[in-house]
Amino acid sequence: MTTAYKHEPFTDFNNEENRNLFQQALANVNEMMGKEYPLVINGERVTTDNTIVSYNPANKEEVVGKVSKANKEHAEQAIQAASEAFEDWRYWNPEERANILFRAAAIIRRKKHDFSALLVKEGGKPWKEADADTAEAIDFLEYYGRQMIELAKGKPINSREGEINQYVYTPTGVTVVISPWNFLFAIMAGTVAAPIVTGNTVVLKPASTTPVIAALFVEVLEEAGLPKGVVNFVPGSGAEVGDYLVDHPKTSLITFTGSREVGTRIFERAAKVQEGQMHLKRVIVEMGGKDTVVVDKDCDIELAAQSIFTSAFGFSGQKCSAGSRAVVHEDVYDQVLQRVVEITEEKIVGNPENADTYMGPVIDQASFDKIMDYVRVGNEEGRLMTGGKGDDSKGYFIQPTIFADLDPKSRLMQEEIFGPVVGFSKAADFDEALKIANNTEYGLTGAVITRNRKHIERAKQEFHVGNLYFNRNCTGAIVGYHPFGGFKMSGTDSKAGGPDYLALHMQAKTISEML
Ligand code: SER
Repeated sequence: MTTAYKHEPFTDFNNEENRNLFQQALANVNEMMGKEYPLVINGERVTTDNTIVSYNPANKEEVVGKVSKANKEHAEQAIQAASEAFEDWRYWNPEERANILFRAAAIIRRKKHDFSALLVKEGGKPWKEADADTAEAIDFLEYYGRQMIELAKGKPINSREGEINQYVYTPTGVTVVISPWNFLFAIMAGTVAAPIVTGNTVVLKPASTTPVIAALFVEVLEEAGLPKGVVNFVPGSGAEVGDYLVDHPKTSLITFTGSREVGTRIFERAAKVQEGQMHLKRVIVEMGGKDTVVVDKDCDIELAAQSIFTSAFGFSGQKCSAGSRAVVHEDVYDQVLQRVVEITEEKIVGNPENADTYMGPVIDQASFDKIMDYVRVGNEEGRLMTGGKGDDSKGYFIQPTIFADLDPKSRLMQEEIFGPVVGFSKAADFDEALKIANNTEYGLTGAVITRNRKHIERAKQEFHVGNLYFNRNCTGAIVGYHPFGGFKMSGTDSKAGGPDYLALHMQAKTISEML
């Protein structure tokens, strides 16, 4: 019997002992910088001449690791291995599959700070964000394990006299997992754990910027007792390996988290029935967001400012949930704006290895360039309040940047920037604020800061986002507490960490037998 699910607590870094432990973990991780990692296909290690080099975004000179790079042949072998392994894995007792997840969670928990320290190096995450990422990875394992044990019981349906009817969930098949770099541990681990615990087998292609943590997670799964071929590890280019995996006739399910551009491309490609394909592919995509914090007239100003700040600049704004727009009632606009600027200017931007750093770098040169382009656009469209400068000489650092007085239809208020840039627009009343909040093509997260109960109830109905928060920030969903996923062009609203998520990986089967 497992205990009830509870999310993994965050580490209190105000505690000196915890700070020392984390420093030690950073020193441990320093020892493994530059190591090489092979592909894993059917349990075999495959080392290639071509490699993907993972760099520390805070220090471009530092190589975090070199990971073998798969080509089409490797992708083919991985699909075949997953397809063969499926024939055995699908019939495993669901509880045994769940136990592998619980053991993996225990292994990670024992070396928690080492994993988080690697996220500091590979993802450029400040301590707190890295710690939360590792905690979320553990949560996915613990939560989905328990969910599977429940789901294995099936769901009650009716039986007429003279028959026994059952409604059960069965595994689907080979699952291609294409995971992102921003939650390099949590989303990667979560999108692998869900298909395997539901009896599917996986071909994992992690983001090319952060493959080392994925290589280590595959090792954890092996240590936890996962049989060979159930997860195959093939980092590679999207154009070569990604498309090949998505198009493959043996692929049954694709789960992707990343940009709108790539997500819609996968969605389209997966719809095409390939020669020899005997099924329709299922697709789970989680894409972008252009998320709004709405501030009402009657509100706690300090709470509003803190919520906007946290939503905008946590992990340098590199979250699909990031609150990159603030829509503020005109009566409190100047006050809120001023306070967010003050909070922002107090915070330290710099090397995420330092305990006091609030915000580290952005992930790579392409992101840096794209975000700095948006800063130029912002300077044309709005009023720069703070920030606006970047420095990519050592790492990819951009100051937290605030633009005020933007037209709600401006590019800065419409396009996903995925960086530390937030835009402010003024609203004449709550009606207008809600209209602006809904005026993008995305529908992922949103927050409303208000004391007005009527407005809270209205927003529940009229603010069209998958995750709606009141009187708090719009990031940091917790597995099992805030199932996460969005409407509109944010994706298939598949709600990771929620009670329906595993069923999306399974085929429901009705069984009726005459007595
Ligand atoms: N789940 C994360 C959040 O809520 C985003 O992926 O911030």
